[in-house]
Amino acid sequence: MKILVTGGAGYIGSHTWIALREAGHTPVIVDNFANASPRVLSRLGQLFQTEPVCIAGDIRNATLIERVIEDHGCEAVIHFAGYKAVGESMAEPLKYFEVNVGGTERLLTAMANTGVRKLIFSSSATVYGDPEILPIPEDHPLSTASVYGQTKLIVEDMLRALHASDPQWAIAILRYFNPVGAHPSGLIGEDPADTPNNLMPFIAQVAVGRRPHLNVFGNDYPTPDGTGVRDYIHVCDLAEGHVAALSLLDEPQCTALNLGTGKGHSVLEMVEAFERASGRHVPYRITDRRPGDIASCYADPSRAEALTGWRAERGLDEMCADVWRWQSQNPLGYLDVAAE
Ligand SMILES: NC(=O)c1ccc[n+]([C@@H]2O[C@H](COP(=O)([O-])OP(=O)(O)OC[C@H]3O[C@@H](n4cnc5c(N)ncnc54)[C@H](O)[C@@H]3O)[C@@H](O)[C@H]2O)c1
Repeated sequence: MKILVTGGAGYIGSHTWIALREAGHTPVIVDNFANASPRVLSRLGQLFQTEPVCIAGDIRNATLIERVIEDHGCEAVIHFAGYKAVGESMAEPLKYFEVNVGGTERLLTAMANTGVRKLIFSSSATVYGDPEILPIPEDHPLSTASVYGQTKLIVEDMLRALHASDPQWAIAILRYFNPVGAHPSGLIGEDPADTPNNLMPFIAQVAVGRRPHLNVFGNDYPTPDGTGVRDYIHVCDLAEGHVAALSLLDEPQCTALNLGTGKGHSVLEMVEAFERASGRHVPYRITDRRPGDIASCYADPSRAEALTGWRAERGLDEMCADVWRWQSQNPLGYLDVAAE
């Protein structure tokens, strides 16, 4: 299939580009590089001998999106583009509503105008709020505490309304748990522009010497060691989940799937696993809980397996080893490009 991949130069998008190519699809990236380095493209090119087809542009530009869909004959869209920092979303809500909600509306309009009605959308486990049931099934009540989460919920509602208005749409809403890891080549990985918001890149930056220690936000949660428990999923498993979800687009529907492993790991378990994989000490300090954080969150991923045959295969040690390879080969992320 020829597939428009918005945000395809980003962390999850670049790994999904590889999975799509490996499965024989033809991805076409649109990315405005708001949170990605153009060097991702040459790294992907090293893996496949040809650089990705990438149009530098914004999802808010419906005319551009229509032209890309028509010029490249795209039959479906995988929509990653958007902002994802919870703290920033509280400080700059309009930026998040404009890009995540307004940008998605523009994209959907461009798709409708060009007759492309097959979409995979990046949602998040944040739409489950503070979970009432663990592991979390897709029919768990939806709520959220952040503006970022609200933008995901609004887009999900928009997609359900769109499908109700025109049942020809085929839409898979993928709710990611906690993506971590990197491609085993060490060529691409997660490269936060500022202080990492997520645990794994923070641990990796401490291990490589870019930061003195990790702050662990609270050790008095009702979990086995008191620190927060999350469902970490290898980004390559997540990427393959998108390829599997393409099969859902053969039939008109609007359906949500959890992409997680079904297993929870605490912050301290992650630190220990990373120390094992890297052979480096990761010093940490326990600090106060962060407002809005929850104790435990992990998926019931059985629906994804039942509907698409996909399930996560890679374990914690592989996730840590792959992050360490990426981080140690590229201590400054995509800024380390002396050879390119
Ligand atoms: N990484 C996570 O922990 C996580 C968890 C759940 C859901 N998600 C969602 O998955 C998607 C991808 O996340 P990621 O971790 O790869 O983030 P990322 O920031 O690495 O990738 C997003 C990409 O979108 C691009 N982009 C941003 N605004 C754009 C615009 N207006 N037009 C075109 N391109 C634009 C950025 O340059 C970047 O390359 C996001 O929608 C995110 O909300 C991520």
